[in-house]
Amino acid sequence: MSASTVAVIVVAAGSGTRLGHSEPKAFVPLGGDTILGVALDAVFGMREAPHVVVVAPEERLAEVRSRYGPRAETASATLDVVAGGLTRQQSVANGLAVLPHVVETVLVHDAARPLTPSAVFDEVAAAVRARGHGIVPGLQVVDTIKRVDAEGRVLATVDRSELAAMQTPQGFPREALEIAYSSAQREHTDDAALFAAIGVPVDVVPGDARSFKITVPADLHRAEQLAAERGRADGAPRPALERAPYATSAAGSRVGTGIDVHAFADEVDTPLWLAGLHWPGEHGLSGHSDGDAAAHAICDALLSAAGLGDIGGMFGTDDPRLAGAHGEVFLTETVRRLADAGWRVGNVSVQVVGNRPKLAPRRAEAEAVLSRALGAPVSVSATTTDGLGFTGRGEGVAAIATATIVPVGGGAA
Ligand code: CTP
Ligand code: MG
Repeated sequence: MSASTVAVIVVAAGSGTRLGHSEPKAFVPLGGDTILGVALDAVFGMREAPHVVVVAPEERLAEVRSRYGPRAETASATLDVVAGGLTRQQSVANGLAVLPHVVETVLVHDAARPLTPSAVFDEVAAAVRARGHGIVPGLQVVDTIKRVDAEGRVLATVDRSELAAMQTPQGFPREALEIAYSSAQREHTDDAALFAAIGVPVDVVPGDARSFKITVPADLHRAEQLAAERGRADGAPRPALERAPYATSAAGSRVGTGIDVHAFADEVDTPLWLAGLHWPGEHGLSGHSDGDAAAHAICDALLSAAGLGDIGGMFGTDDPRLAGAHGEVFLTETVRRLADAGWRVGNVSVQVVGNRPKLAPRRAEAEAVLSRALGAPVSVSATTTDGLGFTGRGEGVAAIATATIVPVGGGAA
């Protein structure tokens, strides 16, 4: 294999303050992997296998090497892992410092944009080679942008036709990028700004909506949904069920069942939350929380298996902290209570009974979200009741769940 002349520096050394997760952002779970793992898979999917440099927090270097080295090898890519700096710019500089001599084109990419398609990397690399300029993917700005003063008063509307929102990977001829970095006088917000400061042109090529940056928790939620949809479309293994190291045997396990029912809300504009997902355009269920009957039935099944009572006893029905709370809040708390009592979840099966929403098209997505919340495989099924009873009349939705739990330390984890 001849050494590649294209390198991709993936910066993953940030802490993710705004995401507020206990792990550094790049190491937060996504799609049965981590944000960094998903980002790297896109890099390894490039047409021409690149040299990859991951810039990671000092204490995670060995983990990155052992976890992603084999995948790089499978993709015929080479992988280097170095420690980051205090700022993104310093982290990129640390990556640049270890590039092999043969590299002529450098792409710099945020691990925090994990769903960027491989084709974007190919296009940016090709454009750098063809033009010898800096190349940045950008999206047209769709919102109206205003200049606002410190008191919040609008000063002016900015001409949107001249604006573009910048993404990564940003690509550069290596030599010019090194000059730009060595002569940088101050911190710039992206590599293109630093590069433009030495007077080399930077061109914008079309970006991709999927390249959005995970910054706050809502971004992570969106990424999870997209990752689940993509897994389904690819026919790829369903990560939550097949790749995670969940228990496969269950010595001393116990089983529990749970049922929950919620009526459709009187107000037609109530949003529907069911099986951990929001269902846009569907009539919502009533309840003090979000009315997610499937999530509540799962909690009851788990609590019952552990002999810990039921969800009403655990949370109370009028706890003000739970007004509008989503299923994940209950599931996470249930898992915590189980852990306190020495149990972890084995697996869960939940069946939704009702006419609407049609669950099948989003079943895999629901399974991914619920599995992630429990750290164990959840399977979701659905049925109608042939027009009979309250579900048949469309008055509400029922869910019935069965769960197994395993003593902590038991089973093959
Ligand atoms: N980054 C880095 N080294 C730093 C700071 C940031 O490698 N010292 C990386 C991040 O890991 C991320 C990318 O730069 O992939 C974009 O930064 P940002 O989205 O701001 O991530 P964080 O700095 O981790 O998040 P926050 O600003 O919320 O703390
Ligand atoms: Mg930051």
